[in-house]
Formats: sequence, C-alpha cells, structure tokens
Amino acid sequence: MAKKYYITTPIYYLNADPHIGHAYTTIAADVMARYKRACGEDVFFLTGTDEHGANIAKSAANAGLTPREWTDKMAVKFKTLWEALNIKYDGFIRTTDPRHERVVQEIFEILLKKGDIYKGTYSGKYCMSCEAYFDDGELLPGDCCPVHKRPVELLEEETYFFKLSAYGDRLLKFYEQNPDFLSPKSRGAEITSFVKAGLRDLSVTRTKVKWGVPVLSDPGHTIYVWFDALVNYISAIGLGEKLGLKEYADDKINFDEVWPADVHLIGKEIFRFHAVIWPAVLMAAGIALPAKCFAHGWWTIEGEKMSKSLGNFIDPRDITQKYGVDPLRYFLLKEVPFGGDGDFSIDSFKKRFNADLANDLGNLLSRTLNMAAKTGDIPADYKPQGAFADKVAQTEARYSANMDALTFDKALEAAWALISGMNKYIDESKPWILSKTEPEKARTILLELIYGLQKAAVWVQPFMPSVAAEMQNRLKPGPIGKYAPLFPRIEG
Ligand code: MSP
Repeated sequence: MAKKYYITTPIYYLNADPHIGHAYTTIAADVMARYKRACGEDVFFLTGTDEHGANIAKSAANAGLTPREWTDKMAVKFKTLWEALNIKYDGFIRTTDPRHERVVQEIFEILLKKGDIYKGTYSGKYCMSCEAYFDDGELLPGDCCPVHKRPVELLEEETYFFKLSAYGDRLLKFYEQNPDFLSPKSRGAEITSFVKAGLRDLSVTRTKVKWGVPVLSDPGHTIYVWFDALVNYISAIGLGEKLGLKEYADDKINFDEVWPADVHLIGKEIFRFHAVIWPAVLMAAGIALPAKCFAHGWWTIEGEKMSKSLGNFIDPRDITQKYGVDPLRYFLLKEVPFGGDGDFSIDSFKKRFNADLANDLGNLLSRTLNMAAKTGDIPADYKPQGAFADKVAQTEARYSANMDALTFDKALEAAWALISGMNKYIDESKPWILSKTEPEKARTILLELIYGLQKAAVWVQPFMPSVAAEMQNRLKPGPIGKYAPLFPRIEG
C-alpha cells in the first residue's frame, strides 16, 4: 500500500463570500497537488467548508434562512469558485456532513474517557466573531478584540476543557525532532515561544451556541468550532470507518493510505490552532502527526486590509473574466514569496502579466514557432547536448527543489531564468541570419528552443494548466500551424 501525498487547505467559514485570500490558499494547494501528480505521486487534496458556530447562525438569521439553508447555499459558492479557478480537489468536506459530526463526537468521547477532556467552569473575555476567548494581554485598549477591534464580552459557562497544558513539553520535543513541521521557519519561532510560555487548558464546548455538534454524552453542550473544524482533516479520509462507525461503512477511502498529512496549508492567523492545538489533540487521540504545517502570509488590496466595510473585497472572477484564470494563478504565486505578506493591485497584476507572460513566455513561444514554421516541422525525440542540456538540467533541479520546499516564486524564477535566457539566445545567435550561412547550427538552436519550451510547459503546468496544455499542443511533433498570441498584452 503506497502512502498518498496528502495536502489540505483550511476549511473556509461560510459567513461571507469567497474572495482572493481564500483563492490564494486553495490555488497554492492545487499547484502543489498538480506538481506531485506530475511527479507520479498518488495525491489526495482536501478542501471544504467550516459550517458551525454562532457566526454562521447569525449570518443565516440575517439572511432570513435556517443555518442549514444558508450553509447549503454558501457551500455552493465556494465549490463554484473552485471550479472556475480550475481547482482539482479529491475531497470536499463540509462540517455539517453527519459523517464528519459523528467522528468529531467520537474523538471527543475518546478524549473524555482518557481524561484528556474534563468538565469545569470557564469565565473569560470572548470575541463572538472569532469564537475565541482572549487573555487581557492580547486585547486592545477598551477590551477590544485584536482581530475585529470590537469589545469582547465577559462569559461564564460550564464547559469541558481539553488538557492542552499537559502537552507543552511533548509539543516542544516534537517541533525539535521535526524541524520542518513549523514552516516557514520565520513563522515557527512565534509558535515555539508561545508554547514555551506555558499552555492553558482549552475550553472545547459551548452551552450558548446551538448551531454546533452536540457532545454525545452531554447534548446540552456543543463542541467548540475549532475542535470540530480541525477534525475535518481526519474525518474526511476514512477515519470513521476505521473507528467502526456504521455511517462510514461504505467509505471508499483507506485512512492509513492517506494519513498523516504531508502538509496543512494555512494562513498565518490560524497557525497556532494548527501547530499547537491540533497536534496536541492528535497526540491525545493516539493518532500520528502531520509532517508539516505551512503558514503563508496575507494579501492586502492596494495597501489596505481587505474588508467588507472598506468595500475592497476582490472576487477572483473579476480578474479571471477579464484576463483569464491561469494568469491570476501565476500572479498570486509569483508576486510574493510563499510565506510572506503581499499587496494585490491591478497595476502590479498588469505589469507582471505583460512582462512575464506576454513578453517572456508568449513571445518566446511565438518566435520559436515562427522559425519552426519556416522549416516546416517539429521533430520528435530530440535531446540537446552540451551547454544547453546542462542549463535545462540545472533549471529542472532548481525548479523541483523549490517546488518541494513550497517556495513557488523561486521555482518559477528558475523556469523564467531559462525562458528569458532563451529569448536572449535568439537575440544573440540570430538563427534567421545563421540559417543562411550555417544551417546546421541554426537548426540545432531551433531544436534546443523547442526542447526548452516543451520543458517549460511541464514546469508551468501546475500553475497554468490550460496554458501548459496549449503550449504542449502547439509544440507537438509534426507539422505546425499559425497561432494567436498566448497572452495578448494588456494595454492601458
Ligand atoms: N474556518 C477557519 C479555518 C479552519 S481550518 C480547520 C477559517 N476560515 S476562513 O474562511 O476565515 O479562512 C481563512 C483562510 O483563508 C486563511 O487561513 C487563509 O488561508 C485564507 N485567507 C483569508 N484572507 C486572506 C488574505 N487576505 N490573504 C491571504 N489569505 C487569506 O479561518
């Protein structure tokens, strides 16, 4: 049984429409999944929606719908967007799927029996929007939530606690023994020092929140949304069947073939949930830990934080309908080193489109095909020799190493160094002149260019699947045709 490559995105809250930030994580996961598939690995790519909690119930009520009607409607919006962005996931989990709910209940009961979950009372300052308690030290002046900048509420409730405090040392040891778990390194230090400062037990049930998964043995409590949500990563891949739950009897996914995850891709604001709470829950449940948690940065829009009230929400379709899906996918992963923060502006999108896609890649393809049109063919099975072959091999090695490390911008940089290098090669060697004096040499250059472009098509494939297919089609051995530019320049 070969272990699959398992990659996940966060499951998205359904209280608002999907925007470019959600698209970013999902595209990155899709790129990685496509890359791994191209490397011959069996991949399981999971995404989905986080559907419980007071916020979702509130959004539903505002829209005059039941939570169920609301989440059914909103989940479709995410699925439709993923289809439009050419996202090829293998699983889509909704936390309102009864099979997921059963696994959440089961894990909860397992931890309760082991004593890792116990009953107590909690009083603290709670942000309704985050659905989280905050310490005084974390709050802004006026007891405001650091995320929503609105006053938190004082809550006291009977609650079940997860014994997170007992896991600090084990977590630190785990980070030490698995130095790639906290990625990128620049963001890992914050997690380690948070754990070193000492962990407190975590309240994992609510009595006030009705729209949630009831505790099996105490249904007056619903399970905290984050506990519920994190379990998606294992409920979606056949854990229910493994636990012997009858709802899962027909599940086709073999848990042990998929778990542990190779990488949980997330945004930086939910790193603690994934790097502290999640591994501790898994340790308590006796389940293996994921190999890596990668926290990427945040996009601002034209220098501003994206928010409903500012009205600067970017629906990815505003861009894709005008300029195509692939250029957006490319832009998001090239513009900003994966892991860092970035700013999205139409101006920088247009600049990069014209420079990298229209000028570098598009021109290289049409110049090469125009030359090939004169000789009338693209031969099969050509293998370059010497300096050019070395350059391609070096590019390939740089590309793969960076893809494996999720440094997408550097992988693309490697590919583009060869692409612009080939344009320069044409400028300098002038094959159209050379063909008159040294036709053999001119022919070799052309064959090298075709070969380099065929390679480039493979490298860009995870990022721009339709563009790559079109390139491969135009570069197929045999007679060649006349084509429209791959990327018509954006004017203005
Ligand atoms: N439901 C939780 C996650 C549970 S995972 C077990 C959640 N959902 S969310 O809808 O708020 O989505 C958060 C994710 O969307 C972030 O982690 C990040 O991946 C992505 N982004 C949302 N806004 C973003 C930006 N402005 N920029 C980049 N990514 C952002 O949190």
